[in-house]
Amino acid sequence: MVIEAFEKVKELETAIHNSNINNKEELEAFRIQFLGTKNCIKPLFAAIRDIPNDRKKEYGQLINAVKQQAEQKFEASAQQLLSKAANDVDVPDLTAPAESLELGSRHPVSLVLNQMIEIFDRLGFTIAEDSEIEDDWHNFTALNTPEDHPARDMQDTYYILNDPSRLLRTHTSSVQSHVMMNQEPPIRIIAPGRVYRNETISSRAHCQFHQVEGLYIAEKVSFADLRQTIYYFAKEMFGATKIRLRPSFFPFTEPSAEVDVWWGCDSEADKRITKGTGWLEILGCGMVDPAVLKNCGIDTEKYSGFAFGMGVERIAMLKYQIDDIRLLFENDVRFLKQFDKTAIF
Ligand code: DAH
Repeated sequence: MVIEAFEKVKELETAIHNSNINNKEELEAFRIQFLGTKNCIKPLFAAIRDIPNDRKKEYGQLINAVKQQAEQKFEASAQQLLSKAANDVDVPDLTAPAESLELGSRHPVSLVLNQMIEIFDRLGFTIAEDSEIEDDWHNFTALNTPEDHPARDMQDTYYILNDPSRLLRTHTSSVQSHVMMNQEPPIRIIAPGRVYRNETISSRAHCQFHQVEGLYIAEKVSFADLRQTIYYFAKEMFGATKIRLRPSFFPFTEPSAEVDVWWGCDSEADKRITKGTGWLEILGCGMVDPAVLKNCGIDTEKYSGFAFGMGVERIAMLKYQIDDIRLLFENDVRFLKQFDKTAIF
């Protein structure tokens, strides 16, 4: 009986010694087993009753020692786990393959702009740029559109608050005025850029959009040069076989024309896009009015020129069959994802 009790204490001591504590769960299991309210040491304390008096002291010391061992092991393991957690900061695996980044695609407006720039580049046109916040003179007056001229109503203008002489440019024709003021002919530029008009936003109109303006000024520039330049552009951009020029009016050109490309009228879609005519309007153009040349300090005896201007969104919509201009400004990735990720133009 006595020997058995001593052996039990020894067994417990071995069990404590051999317990593996490698994580929080094992630590808690150890605590419940050896230190909890129903721990397995308690019954051995109770057994002291049955130990003969002359060995009670020895027995008592032995169990106390075992209990202390359990407590010490618990404390030490808890400390160890704590410092291990502190050292266990995630070290990245430098050999792991990199996460793949999703490739973006070019915006359809950029695709079309790049293509336009590339086509005119082949004809020797360089790029000119200027400010989107413009003064009244460069946007209107220099371009033969003085104050109170009815043509100003064609382009509802955003003026800068408290400064009626400054505005958001309504067309990239304003760049013409700057270039002519600053450069001697021959001038051969295109001016791509963003323009603003106070329009009610709908599927066909927006208050911001892009235009490409063209300007060619040199000696003996003729309407035939204009026609041929536009024809080349239409052929390259749309694969068009025919263009037609309809007489029109712009304050800065005389004569002025609007240009249609032959789109065809075969399918239902063609009919819808061309309103049943097969022709599609793509730009406005004309011979630069001598009054404009004079305003910008160009010798009208010596030089003449042509200009043209077109909307980039309109052409992107035609090319990619987009039926709502607002899609071009919303940056919805579901829309943008549809464009070729590798295309530049
Ligand atoms: N600026 C005109 C517009 O925004 C477009 C335009 C028409 C530009 C004829 C020109 C031109 O240079 O000759 O509607």
